[in-house]
Amino acid sequence: MIEFENADVTYPGGFKALSNVSLKINKGELVVIVGLSGAGKSTLLRAINGFVPITAGSVKVNGTEVRGASQATLRELRGGIGMIFQTFNLVYRTSVINNALMGRLSKVPRWRSMLGVWPAADREIALQSLERVEIVEKAYIRASNLSGGQQQRVGIARALAQQPQILLADEPVASLDPVTSHTVMRDLRRINRDLGITTIINLHFLDLARSYGRRLIGLRDGELVYDGDIADVDDETFRGIYGRAVTPDDLKEGAEL
Ligand SMILES: Nc1ncnc2c1ncn2[C@@H]1O[C@H](COP(=O)(O)OP(=O)(O)O)[C@@H](O)[C@H]1O
Ligand SMILES: [Mg+2]
Repeated sequence: MIEFENADVTYPGGFKALSNVSLKINKGELVVIVGLSGAGKSTLLRAINGFVPITAGSVKVNGTEVRGASQATLRELRGGIGMIFQTFNLVYRTSVINNALMGRLSKVPRWRSMLGVWPAADREIALQSLERVEIVEKAYIRASNLSGGQQQRVGIARALAQQPQILLADEPVASLDPVTSHTVMRDLRRINRDLGITTIINLHFLDLARSYGRRLIGLRDGELVYDGDIADVDDETFRGIYGRAVTPDDLKEGAEL
């Protein structure tokens, strides 16, 4: 479903953030990407939806080449990819359901969404998405009145309302406490299992990667240095990815591995 072949990303200014990355992700997979800050995790996610253009090689999504794709092709591609952000990126002054409905923006005529006139079917999809992350009882509350964990669940619901084939989550729990982080990771894993949405999660925390991942991809200085089953990952593997021993800062619980 997603295929990188010898892909490079060199940013304007000359910094090479991804170097010769090749990988294949199949439909329905849940993949966790780990690496130090600056390793290229966000760059890799953004190369999938074309927000960051690759400068060599190829990235294909469902057989469509993202490199050099037209605006129309990119729009269609992005309609099928839900994004989840570290800082949630909600519209805080409006209700939870309105935030979830923003996932429908690419699916309804612009004038309707501008007027806030949402078709009943779209409202239903938004409510179902909120239900899936167990926050539907907050539908008519302002997003600013929710806790961080609840806001992130709204962020997930917004992505789900898009009815995406792919979910990209960029450090979705970095701003959350350990208990809430586990809740959000469990939600993501459940959604992946129940709906079969291909899910890629960037994580800094090794213990969470271990608890919720199946396949682990390790990035170091823009290079793919590990791609395999998470069950085969040991402290030595992590040292290879991080270039140093694991520290308590690499764990959400702050505990030893
Ligand atoms: N727009 C940009 N222009 C120039 N350099 C960038 C840009 N975005 C990211 N970088 C650099 O690319 C490297 C990888 O960044 P990023 O993909 O954000 O890493 P990660 O998500 O793993 O922390 C970093 O060194 C970062 O400073
Ligand atoms: Mg990042």
